[in-house]
Amino acid sequence: MCSPLPCWSCCCLLLYFSLGVQGSPKAPSAAPEQVHLSYPGETGCMTVTWTTWVPTPSEVQLFGLQLWGPLPLQAQGTFSPFMDGGILWRKLYIHRITLQGLLPRVQYVYRCGSTQGWSRRFLFRALKNGPHWSPCLAVFGDIGTDNPRALPRLCSDTQQGRYDAVLHVGDFTYNVDQDNAHVRDKFMNLIEPVAASLPYVTCPGNHEDHYNFSNYKARFIMPGDSEGLWYSWDLGPVHIISFSTEVYFFLHRHLVERQFRWLESDLQKANKNPAAPPWIITMGHRPMYCSSADWDDCTWRESKVRRGLLGKFYELEDLFYKYGVDLQLWAHERSYEHPWPIYNYHVFNGSREMPYTHPRVPVHIITGSARCEERLTPLTLFPRPWSAVLIKEHGYTRLHNLNETRVHIQQVSDDQDGKIVDDVWVMRPLLGRMMYLW
Ligand SMILES: *[C@@H]1O[C@H](CO)[C@@H](O)[C@H](O)[C@H]1NC(C)=O
Ligand SMILES: *[C@@H]1O[C@H](CO)[C@@H](O)[C@H](O)[C@H]1NC(C)=O
Ligand SMILES: *[C@@H]1O[C@H](CO)[C@@H](O)[C@H](O)[C@H]1NC(C)=O
Repeated sequence: MCSPLPCWSCCCLLLYFSLGVQGSPKAPSAAPEQVHLSYPGETGCMTVTWTTWVPTPSEVQLFGLQLWGPLPLQAQGTFSPFMDGGILWRKLYIHRITLQGLLPRVQYVYRCGSTQGWSRRFLFRALKNGPHWSPCLAVFGDIGTDNPRALPRLCSDTQQGRYDAVLHVGDFTYNVDQDNAHVRDKFMNLIEPVAASLPYVTCPGNHEDHYNFSNYKARFIMPGDSEGLWYSWDLGPVHIISFSTEVYFFLHRHLVERQFRWLESDLQKANKNPAAPPWIITMGHRPMYCSSADWDDCTWRESKVRRGLLGKFYELEDLFYKYGVDLQLWAHERSYEHPWPIYNYHVFNGSREMPYTHPRVPVHIITGSARCEERLTPLTLFPRPWSAVLIKEHGYTRLHNLNETRVHIQQVSDDQDGKIVDDVWVMRPLLGRMMYLW
């Protein structure tokens, strides 16, 4: 159960002003911006990433919040230059430092930058160790720079300490390269109140494709083996796999193959290792199923994401089924939808009364309505028989009370001021991987 910590109960603005000690005024371009956290997948670690417009040293200063806390700790890191592909070739510097030796559940205040300019101070809580705790996750996709509907509420949730991590299921800005990537910078600053306090876990979406996903890859650190487009990590009782559905659409056949091989070996490891977390949750941008009335991939029965290239190569539905993936998170459609547990267009409820208790196939959740200037997706006039819940309101999803056997999924509606508009418990057996072969 995730009870908010009392000392987080200030709203974003308050935090900004009470902790917001800026560095001494210097050239603005040397001041850090676009600060965000990522979890490198190792116990006691957290990575801080930020941007400056001139090369500066990279340093993070940590201030424990406890009275007995240590004196400020310092960590030095490095930066790398990055050039946008637009006609202005805007150049910036990406700084990255991985903090180590953090104590589980301890809150830290930090700032990053250098003597040439410091960020304001941010607060984060180090993640707990091991599989025996219940992480809370905020999940959404498709949030834009204009009208990011879900952001104020996500921000206040974050400051109340509701979450341990954010999963952003692709599509960050519309588009990341627009206006010589000024849109990217604006977005990264907009999400800072959330992303500088929580590990911000991502997968690429179609709006990040310009210049070969370079703006995406340079920003979001991907632990482990990857092209910067796929990776996996463990968070409490969950093995989270982030991958790219976009490789199926940009004629990168070799990438489709490489990713598929990687997914298969990652899933094999997760299945063979008895100490691996019980849950496997995937996040990919474009869904396999949807009730939309646009021409998206998921409106086709033989969707590429589901059935692979040419309807038979590198099929993901079969792969995820074979290796017992429990939950598949998607976005791209501007709606919230989940089918009954579905495989190959057949419904396999756990039982008629309790479809999500020991479902016989993976469960899909599509949560792409957090935003934005693109309108909510038009929905089909012919309701799909397999669609359990379909909500056409702005909002985002909470996964909480996650333990070995169950997860509580709630959809928060922003159009209804935070009302919970969907509420499902998914249960899995306590022991062993869920192998769906019967
Ligand atoms: C794009 O990036 C991938 C690696 O992620 C690489 O294999 C491919 O060759 C690149 N394509 C171009 C046109 O640069
Ligand atoms: C699955 O469960 C739901 C809810 O009980 C029910 O409406 C639906 O008909 C079931 N589908 C099948 C194929 O059993
Ligand atoms: C999981 O949490 C529920 C309460 O939310 C509890 O009843 C159940 O015993 C827990 N299961 C395990 C294996 O800890």
